[in-house]
Amino acid sequence: MRVIIVKDYEEMSRKAAKIVSDRLHRKLDLVLGLSTGSTSVGMYQELIKAHKEKGLNFSKVRTFNLDEYCGLSPDHPQSYHYFMWYNLFNHINIKPENVYIPRGEVENAEAFCNWYEQKIKEEGGIDLQILGIGRDGHIGFNEPGSSLGSRTRIKTLTEETVEDNSRFFERKEDVPRYAITMGLGTISEARECLLLASGANKAEAVKRCIEGPVSAETTASLLQLHPKVIIVVDEEAAKNLKRKDYYRYAERMAEKLEVR
Ligand code: F6R
Repeated sequence: MRVIIVKDYEEMSRKAAKIVSDRLHRKLDLVLGLSTGSTSVGMYQELIKAHKEKGLNFSKVRTFNLDEYCGLSPDHPQSYHYFMWYNLFNHINIKPENVYIPRGEVENAEAFCNWYEQKIKEEGGIDLQILGIGRDGHIGFNEPGSSLGSRTRIKTLTEETVEDNSRFFERKEDVPRYAITMGLGTISEARECLLLASGANKAEAVKRCIEGPVSAETTASLLQLHPKVIIVVDEEAAKNLKRKDYYRYAERMAEKLEVR
């Protein structure tokens, strides 16, 4: 697990976009797993900039989003479909047929979830999975207590998540109570994971994710078992980490070795 501590949200966004661009330069038909939420917006802006100014090419990229609220249509302004097109896809040269986002309105959710899992496999599996983290330590919408081997399915959101996400809705009552989310087993199969966190309100979850026990209580802690994970956190989000100095030192040493 590589932990990179940066100054602030802007630097986190630039660093994350650089990692995505590097992977894309190495593999044009990269399969990206994507997250929504405030954390990822800055990184998407940086990627748009790289596309417009440096010609970063998304024409062969395939994307799979982590989750979607149940009951929201793709054109609902708070749906994750809308978020992705508004914040990224409308501004880069991705092919619409290469974009996969769970559907919030489906007749047979189980069949849809199985199809989604199958589609990830057919596209060759996820090369790089982008993740944010919830205050309750969730990745995707895998709330505390989720099975560590779970697959794409419907999850009931915790009160804390509903509360946090109510900032995007007019009223708290409008926040959907369920979401379709990739499972922890699904996320674990990505070849590489990149988790981002910014702000003091994420500090406790970040600490539990990186330095706590691996436990369904903090589903992000499962990343400790993954062979290739990069975590980019800003100073505020890193403030509770016990081994902060070591992570900084290890990054400096790695730069010298030029191993990354
Ligand atoms: C969203 C997702 C969630 C968010 C997390 C942080 O697709 O998977 O796990 O990444 O809730 O959300 P923000 O960035 O809004 O704090």
